[in-house]
Amino acid sequence: MASVIVLPMTTQSWLLRAVVCAALLAGPAVGAAPEGQGDECVWNPVTRQCVADDQLYAQPVAGLDATQMRLFDDGLKQFRAPWSVFPRADGEWGLGPYFHANSCAGCHVNVGRGAVDEVANRPVFQQLVRLSVPHPQRSGATDPHPVYDGQLQPFSIFGPSTEPVSGEADVHIAWQHEKIVLGEGDEVTLRRPKVTITNAKFGELDAQVMTSLRNTPALLGLGYLDAVAEADILALADAQKALGFNGRPNYVNDDNTGRKRLGRFGWKANQPTISQQVAAAHLGDMGITTSLYPDDDCTGTEVQCLNFGYKKSKPELTDAAWQAVNHFMAATDVPRPRRMDEQLVRRGSQLFRAMNCAVCHVPELTAGKYDPLPALAGRRFHAYTDLLLHDMGEALADGRPDFRAGGRDWRTAPLWGIGVSARVNGSVDLLHDGRARDVTEAILWHGGEAQHSRDAFARLGRDDRNALVAFVNSL
Ligand code: HEC
Ligand code: HEC
Repeated sequence: MASVIVLPMTTQSWLLRAVVCAALLAGPAVGAAPEGQGDECVWNPVTRQCVADDQLYAQPVAGLDATQMRLFDDGLKQFRAPWSVFPRADGEWGLGPYFHANSCAGCHVNVGRGAVDEVANRPVFQQLVRLSVPHPQRSGATDPHPVYDGQLQPFSIFGPSTEPVSGEADVHIAWQHEKIVLGEGDEVTLRRPKVTITNAKFGELDAQVMTSLRNTPALLGLGYLDAVAEADILALADAQKALGFNGRPNYVNDDNTGRKRLGRFGWKANQPTISQQVAAAHLGDMGITTSLYPDDDCTGTEVQCLNFGYKKSKPELTDAAWQAVNHFMAATDVPRPRRMDEQLVRRGSQLFRAMNCAVCHVPELTAGKYDPLPALAGRRFHAYTDLLLHDMGEALADGRPDFRAGGRDWRTAPLWGIGVSARVNGSVDLLHDGRARDVTEAILWHGGEAQHSRDAFARLGRDDRNALVAFVNSL
């Protein structure tokens, strides 16, 4: 039975919400082994033991020296550390003024993906909403929202006491259901989220505001993805053209240099490096400043936020702590694939290629020269992504462009480790907004460039469908 990272217990409702989520995640889903996920041992050759379920995504890559191992542990500790409000004693000071959660692990429970809470009328917690408005001069371009900025933060520290209270707005999801009939007459019910934003503190969001719901992704193997040479990614895009696919790189702001750089992280590949992604997560999700983003993210309208008393001369997250989290993220390994020699899984692997899944979900890449963790260079790995953007059709579209990513574009999601996700923290809520409850549903939402693959899957007989799903869950 997996346990979860335990958040510090307080009686505050905002924290309770996190704890409630964590408790839900630890509930019956974990042992249920959906879609053929067994309880197989994932062997750790170093400790010579099976890795505990809740630690499957938090293992260091092989080959770290003692200093790197210590930094990995420091980074993991910082990732789990709660942040708090002066002068409370339940975490490091610096949370907010506006924020979403009080630790990275509050959303990325056990470094894994977020769980979608389907209970009616409860605000979402492990999902966030991005916002933007059309750029006034450049058609097709967008700006962050002038009042709420690029991300809604549901909590603030502006209560009568030090207890966090509601923030910029609340987000709820209503689900619309639709039935799909597959080969041999099997039926699947899909759910589509409809987001509502209420209690918007600085005025309603009008019709021109673009919103995008994002589920928390799992954070495994990111160093490998950071290390792939740009030329290799561009070569994949070229090779796909010949097959009628149109993978495209995103080019996004590198806030360190002020230049554009290939995007790799985030559902639309809108972050170029682990270190920038980590700094942006501290600011956007917790209101924690860094030397890269030294100012709290308050817009001109958010006067209370702007006038907030204890502006510090130093960033809230020290450079040393930032480096530790970056290193932890870069050095996190991926569980080995399992069951590869089973007949069913081998059949699934053939179908995966035959149905062109492997064109986008590229099975093997090689890490290039990588200064943050030189040990990774030259290693071949199996992430099942091309790190490129693809048009995924209208049903998945958010209509919100992000740098070169259009409103229908998403980065090919890596598939490695997906089969143990339920064991890590109970969640198998897939796709950018968490709408898919398993691999079958995720495939059935594929459209656009992946429409043919999706249709071929839907036509398959039951045995072949099971084989394909078993293969994906073995990765
Ligand atoms: C509100 C919940 C939440 C919290 C808290 C949170 N994240 Fe995330 N994280 C997300 C979501 C959602 C995304 C995807 C964002 C997107 O694509 O727009 C994400 C993406 C990421 C990614 C990119 C992963 C990938 O595969 O592309 C990294 C790395 C990451 N977060 C690290 C962190 C760190 C480090 C912290 C703590 C400072 C943190 N996150 C806190 C929700 C959260
Ligand atoms: C045209 C490129 C393309 C093809 C072909 C394709 N996919 Fe995907 N896949 C994507 C993208 C892009 C996403 C992310 C979509 C989103 O989040 O909305 C994705 C997401 C997924 C996910 C969810 C992963 C997660 O962590 O949320 C699964 C599972 C998946 N694909 C399996 C498959 C299988 C199996 C096939 C073949 C039947 C396939 N895909 C074909 C591009 C593709």
